[in-house]
Amino acid sequence: MKYRLAILGAGSIAHDMGETVQKTDIVEGYAVASRDLGRAEELARQYGFTKAYGSYEEMLADPQVDLVYIATPHVFHARQIRQCLEAGKHVLCEKAFTINASQARAVTALAREKGLLLAEAIWPRYMPMARVLRDFGASDQIGRIYGLTANLGYPVYHRERLHQRELGGGALLDVGIYPLTFASLILGDEVTKIRSQADLSDTGVDRTNQILLTYASGARASIFDTIAGPTDREGVIYGEKGYATVGNVNNYQYLRIYDAAHKLQEEILCPPQVTGYEYELQACVEAMDKGWTECPDAPHAMSITMMELMDIIRGQWGLEYPEL
Ligand SMILES: NC(=O)c1ccc[n+]([C@@H]2O[C@H](COP(=O)([O-])OP(=O)(O)OC[C@H]3O[C@@H](n4cnc5c(N)ncnc54)[C@H](OP(=O)(O)O)[C@@H]3O)[C@@H](O)[C@H]2O)c1
Repeated sequence: MKYRLAILGAGSIAHDMGETVQKTDIVEGYAVASRDLGRAEELARQYGFTKAYGSYEEMLADPQVDLVYIATPHVFHARQIRQCLEAGKHVLCEKAFTINASQARAVTALAREKGLLLAEAIWPRYMPMARVLRDFGASDQIGRIYGLTANLGYPVYHRERLHQRELGGGALLDVGIYPLTFASLILGDEVTKIRSQADLSDTGVDRTNQILLTYASGARASIFDTIAGPTDREGVIYGEKGYATVGNVNNYQYLRIYDAAHKLQEEILCPPQVTGYEYELQACVEAMDKGWTECPDAPHAMSITMMELMDIIRGQWGLEYPEL
């Protein structure tokens, strides 16, 4: 029997998940819950889900729901994770996992207490290419890795969720998390120094930011992310004997490894994807089957570490979010 999935919040990414569920055979597309019944019905109809609910609470009261996918703005995540866990549901919650590290610590502790799965839907961490990158970062293929650069940007500032501080808007938590994830896969998480600056918009959120990280190994990462416009999304890894480029740090398409003479040595391509979101669903199924409260590819400690990093960075700009 397949686990029955319910989507909480029928916005943009909920459609991508609906499509993923419909096109794969990983979980059963069971329910959609929205603040607006019509929107839930439409999404359920579009992707072949069985039930539609006009409130999140009604969906959580349905004993048939096994796993809830939270697809709302970040400021609501911690509260909704708690509601799901209290209702006895496993949870896959969109990134940014919460608004800060203290919320991340609290909800992961609750998941462990309840013995339920709580996974962050930071999709590239679950992809086969994430393993390729982690192994490459630990290898000596381009000699000692002493630095990397990564950027990510989309022209999305106009979207309500992204320019409103009350909804957790800004570039860092929405897009910056991806180049930071890329840096984490390659260089690890022993960050010793963080320098950053941001262009804050009229509404007080970071439209564009730059982050410089120094690691215990001495390596450095330079991150640029923005919701003001598109960027080339490239990651470049620098070693003493060569360098490597990664196409799209939001959804790793290739790893190209060059020697010091700029000659291509090796190219590893991303395997064919359905949407790319199938891997996080597969990881949830494996974890639920095995009774785990976290997924090994994106464990609780990782979610907390990433939130701690982003707390410090935001603190450098004085950007605060409401805690709901
Ligand atoms: N993994 C990825 O690739 C990816 C991509 C995009 C976004 N995300 C993440 O997914 C989450 C949602 O992003 P999105 O782009 O799907 O956002 P969106 O299109 O604005 O949809 C968010 C949904 O949240 C619900 N919601 C509940 N209370 C709300 C409120 N007060 N104001 C606005 N919406 C409210 C709404 O659903 P109902 O009205 O139907 O209840 C709304 O449709 C964010 O945390 C984001 O970082 C992830």
